[in-house]
Amino acid sequence: MEIIKVANAEEGGKKAFELIKEGMNNGAKVLGLATGSTPETLYKEMTSSDLDFTEMTSVNLDEYVGLGGDDDQSYRYFMNDQLFIKKPFKDTYVPNGKAEDLAAECKHYESIIDSNPIDIQILGIGQNGHIGFNEPGTPLDSLTHVVELTESTINANKRNFEKVEDVPTRAVSMGIGSIMKGKKMILMAYGEAKADAIKGMIDGPVSVDLPASALQNHSDVVVIIDEAAASKL
Ligand code: F6R
Repeated sequence: MEIIKVANAEEGGKKAFELIKEGMNNGAKVLGLATGSTPETLYKEMTSSDLDFTEMTSVNLDEYVGLGGDDDQSYRYFMNDQLFIKKPFKDTYVPNGKAEDLAAECKHYESIIDSNPIDIQILGIGQNGHIGFNEPGTPLDSLTHVVELTESTINANKRNFEKVEDVPTRAVSMGIGSIMKGKKMILMAYGEAKADAIKGMIDGPVSVDLPASALQNHSDVVVIIDEAAASKL
């Protein structure tokens, strides 16, 4: 893993943007994208740049079960709002959290990933080491699946909802195996709350107890972290 230390999330967003730009210059056509607070500075860089994404495809990591794209808590809404409205892409994929048959939706989404191989995968990390919504215990070869969110993740995400009871308890998420299919990984993390997860991801054993540790088995991973997230290394 290549580790790049940055002063703050703004600098991290700039660094990730440079890597995406370089990748696109070298032919990257598909970006794997994440939601949450971590990639916001990257999306700001993308929207304020003069880079053209109209020939690009994006594939997002996850979506809450039960929320549609017009719900402002959904990840589809977040992506439209933060990025796609300002920077149109050719095609943008986010799992359908309102699918009646969730098992079929998971299968369908995995086929989308296989038909649009991800050149650069953007990742954040949960305090418990999750990537996507792959909570501890998720098999490292898992494909897109329905996830029961842990209490720690529900609590971390409640800031975006009026009350904790409103946070969905399930999500459709790319599996760890789906994520690992991507050619290049860029994982960003800022703040002390991520320090333990970063330490485990980089120095700990590869284990289902810390899903991000699976990235040790990937040949092209760039980790962009601030001093606080790097403080336990
Ligand atoms: C989001 C996602 C999650 C987040 C993680 C960190 O699509 O898949 O793994 O990246 O929960 O969230 P933030 O960035 O809000 O700390």
